[in-house]
Amino acid sequence: MEDLVSALSALSKKRVLITGHTGFKGSWLTEWLLKYGCEITGVALAPEISPAHFDQLGLAKRIHHNLVDIRELDQLKAVFDKCQPQVVFHLAAQALVRKSYKDPKETFDVNVGGSINLLECVRMTPSVEALVFITSDKCYLNKELTRGYTESDELGGIDPYSASKACAELAFATYSESYFSKRSDFAAASARAGNVVGGGDWAEDRIVPDCMRSLSNQTPISLRRPDATRPWQHVLEPLSGYITLAHRLLTDPATASGSWNFGPNESSVHSVKDVVAMCMSNWGHEVPIELHESSVHEAGLLQLNCEKAKQKLRWHPRWNFERTFKETTEWYKLASEGAHISTITLNQITRYEETRND
Ligand SMILES: NC(=O)c1ccc[n+]([C@@H]2O[C@H](COP(=O)([O-])OP(=O)(O)OC[C@H]3O[C@@H](n4cnc5c(N)ncnc54)[C@H](O)[C@@H]3O)[C@@H](O)[C@H]2O)c1
Repeated sequence: MEDLVSALSALSKKRVLITGHTGFKGSWLTEWLLKYGCEITGVALAPEISPAHFDQLGLAKRIHHNLVDIRELDQLKAVFDKCQPQVVFHLAAQALVRKSYKDPKETFDVNVGGSINLLECVRMTPSVEALVFITSDKCYLNKELTRGYTESDELGGIDPYSASKACAELAFATYSESYFSKRSDFAAASARAGNVVGGGDWAEDRIVPDCMRSLSNQTPISLRRPDATRPWQHVLEPLSGYITLAHRLLTDPATASGSWNFGPNESSVHSVKDVVAMCMSNWGHEVPIELHESSVHEAGLLQLNCEKAKQKLRWHPRWNFERTFKETTEWYKLASEGAHISTITLNQITRYEETRND
């Protein structure tokens, strides 16, 4: 884990801007970088859910916290002008597939229009040395392939969320080719990760938070597609990829530009019902399962081929399926018992840093 810790130490000397810092992944990333003393500016909307991990960690008082809508270019640019960031992580998005069906326009406005505003701000801010542009594994056109998707596979999406992430990737590629590649003092990369789980995700309509709420409140768990299989990874896995990538962009930009997949090993592909069984077993009690029909198209299994990141960045997943759900269930169980959230989160980060491989 030496590489990761040295990457974090190097980032601690930079001014870092994170969009989407009030969300699930953003709050973990912010807490992780703060552990190393980073000066962080955040740009996001206020958390929509309560409790929110961001509030539970008390992050608003520990960083330069800006409630700005990324669809507002002038406001976003004003934050860039004030902060003069050196490293940018772009995570802000409308991140829910089912919500994207309900409001496709908002999803495209935020994920495409907002992301283009971000690219504009980066283009117009000479202080920026590295950009990690986060999209999703869903940016790949899901052809129900049995092999893992590689970075050069075709982009596309059936549902509005996936299509918006594919569009964001196209915009990123255009900015990279037309503007960023001409700058010798700057490098950018896009990062594509899949489904992540972990403590502090309180979103509606996601299987793990739904399951944890049911276990904590002893109410039935509602499942739509129990036999659907997914690759599962802990939130710290892609975040370690983003951090490693940011460091490489700063130190060896020629080998870091482009797009990168960060997904779990094949042994982490399991059904929704396996996940629920694992969570119940880890929690120590069971609750009834209620099955419901799904009314929207949900894509079949999509796996990432992460050989590029493994070989060129020396990044690889640390926690296997069992460890991922042991840590995740423990986080929610301790939280339900009233433990201090920062302590639970930071202890998990430390355990992750100390793990060589499960
Ligand atoms: N969670 C996952 O399983 C997963 C999987 C693949 C990719 N991703 C991607 O990772 C990123 C973070 O995901 P997450 O799970 O933390 O999502 P989240 O929904 O928990 O957080 C989204 C963040 O974006 C911000 N945001 C939304 N609309 C905004 C707007 N108009 N202006 C400014 N900020 C806005 C929110 O305030 C929040 O901080 C997203 O780009 C998402 O698409 C997530």
